[in-house]
Amino acid sequence: RQLQGASCVVITLSDRASRGDYVDESGPVLAEGLRALGGEVVSTEVLADGIEPLAGRLHALAASGIRICLCTGGTGLGPRDLTPEALQSLGGRSVPGLAQMLRGLSAQHTPLAWLSRAEVVQLGGMLVIALPGSPRAAAQCMSILTPVLGHALAMID
Ligand code: MTE
Repeated sequence: RQLQGASCVVITLSDRASRGDYVDESGPVLAEGLRALGGEVVSTEVLADGIEPLAGRLHALAASGIRICLCTGGTGLGPRDLTPEALQSLGGRSVPGLAQMLRGLSAQHTPLAWLSRAEVVQLGGMLVIALPGSPRAAAQCMSILTPVLGHALAMID
């Protein structure tokens, strides 16, 4: 139970899921993973791709005391993949080692993992982790994060 009831939010970034063109599967995968570690998932949300909506939401979540925000989607090379840019715009502290770990260990599953521009940023007391969008990638990344998430949170406190 390494997250010890820490409040968590999951945000899926997808134009199509936000329009209702398909049902988001990655968000629930991440929410379940956080709960399995003892986190309290207070909301799972779907936003359209883009910098401003996500950046605004993340500032509000940090201000409201959320400790972990997992984002999924929008980390690739498509024109609407803007999740890394949103995280970079926050003015927080970058945690490059976690992003490197996610790519490096994900590459054991697929070389396409190197295409993810996923970022990790500390914004006040909140850790924001941007993960790739597919449900499979989300599940793999959740497993990769599991050994380090609790200690990361303890250090931020
Ligand atoms: N990471 C893991 N662990 N597993 C995967 O299957 N897919 C990759 C990569 N990272 C993948 C992964 C692929 S195909 C892409 S295009 C990039 O993440 C970016 O995905 P996104 O644009 O949905 O964020």
